[in-house]
Amino acid sequence: MVRSNKSSRTIFVCQQCGKESLKWLGRCPHCQVWNSLVEKTVVAVVSPKSSVLTPPPQELSQVVIGAADRLSLPMAEFNRVLGGGLVAGSMVLIGGDPGIGKSTLLLQVSALVTQMGGTVVYVSGEETLRQIKLRAERLGVKGEGLYLLSETDLDAILDQIERLKPGLVVIDSIQAVCLPELETTTGSITQVRECTLRLMHWAKLNTVPALLAGHVTKDGAIAGPKVLEHIVDVVLYLEGEQFSAYRLLRCVKNRFGSTNEVGIFEMKSGGLVEVANPSEVFLSRRGSQAVGSVVVPTLEGSRPLLVEIQALTSPTSFGQPRRTANCVDFNRLLMITAVLSRRVGLRLGNQDIIVNVTGGLRVEEPAADLGIALAIASSFRDMEVDAGLVAVGEVGLSGELRAVPQLERRANEAARLGFQRCLVPRGGARFPAPEGMELVPAATVREAIGVGLVRHGAGSIPNKD
Ligand code: TYD
Ligand code: MG
Repeated sequence: MVRSNKSSRTIFVCQQCGKESLKWLGRCPHCQVWNSLVEKTVVAVVSPKSSVLTPPPQELSQVVIGAADRLSLPMAEFNRVLGGGLVAGSMVLIGGDPGIGKSTLLLQVSALVTQMGGTVVYVSGEETLRQIKLRAERLGVKGEGLYLLSETDLDAILDQIERLKPGLVVIDSIQAVCLPELETTTGSITQVRECTLRLMHWAKLNTVPALLAGHVTKDGAIAGPKVLEHIVDVVLYLEGEQFSAYRLLRCVKNRFGSTNEVGIFEMKSGGLVEVANPSEVFLSRRGSQAVGSVVVPTLEGSRPLLVEIQALTSPTSFGQPRRTANCVDFNRLLMITAVLSRRVGLRLGNQDIIVNVTGGLRVEEPAADLGIALAIASSFRDMEVDAGLVAVGEVGLSGELRAVPQLERRANEAARLGFQRCLVPRGGARFPAPEGMELVPAATVREAIGVGLVRHGAGSIPNKD
């Protein structure tokens, strides 16, 4: 009997979150998912004591960091997100929805490493060599020094990379590789975790960086990269809005640098192209019509980024008024609408409201509240927003404007792009105005709307009717 055997025992593992339990449960107490616990026999393996693998403890002051430990790639956005480049022996997980561009990014990075004289083993468990070749042709990757392996068995993969000793290992995707001896399905939590641990061990031992692609799916059958986040060194997410060509590579964990970094790319026919000056790109298609349109200096990570927020109000034809939030938070839109009705006196109760961020970039931060409020007020009053103005500030429930982080950086970015006035919360403007820019402090949304909307005279909110 398995249970009485001292060297092996039975546990139950949640296939959703990896939680282990000694007894079977109908519902995982950790992630609350029903029927997700699967029985698993764990065999206690006595690992051979090795004096070669475990060096003695070293005094911190004696640890040397070589300059060559970081491989800086000729792709500034990717380097930025990694905190300066790929660290030798590090394991980087790139998560993202299917079709977002993970394989494209990995192939491009592989090509860059080969251009710098390194060899790369690109393991694909999902695509055939022919499919990868087709993608490589689209990307203009010739592929000297880039070795492809279409394999899912991790032991075979480790054999091959051990033989080739490349400068970079790419696994696309971690859900597709498996260890047949584990007897659970490919992509299950046990498989994914075990495979990652083995790869990590190999990468650390050989000081070779490894890049893993991981799917994020809503389907519980496939383990998402969430469980791996604890294991790997760096976790990046490739994100993008539907129908938008822009992709954000966001760092959520980094053992070698800041997690506040975001890289911005555009998906083009020739692959992902870096967007070095995102503010200019997001504003470049701006028309001269400024009713219902406000430029907001947002922050993506630690990076200021100017985006255009548009709003349209129109009388509700029947029934309940509708609110549509594209790329902004729906609940914040409701809150701002309520503040505009109660604290500013705009009668929005019979108006449909649509708010949109042009360029398809998602703006979640509260600092964009004032921009949204101003855009709605501008559309409702049919008054233009001052064309040289940007607006930033969090809106409170009593209609007050609250300070936001990094105001100076935001104002500097707006000044760099030629904006002359920056509407800011009164308490936040404690720095010298950037050259060519005037900081306009406002204490409330009402005051800000009075300043920001032009044509009928500043300082007051004129009645439309
Ligand atoms: P892919 O890298 O296969 O996504 P993932 O690995 O995350 O599932 O890329 C998917 C999309 O990218 C696909 O719909 C086509 C598009 N694409 C381009 O627009 N340009 C290109 O050069 C390439 C290679 C892909
Ligand atoms: Mg892929």
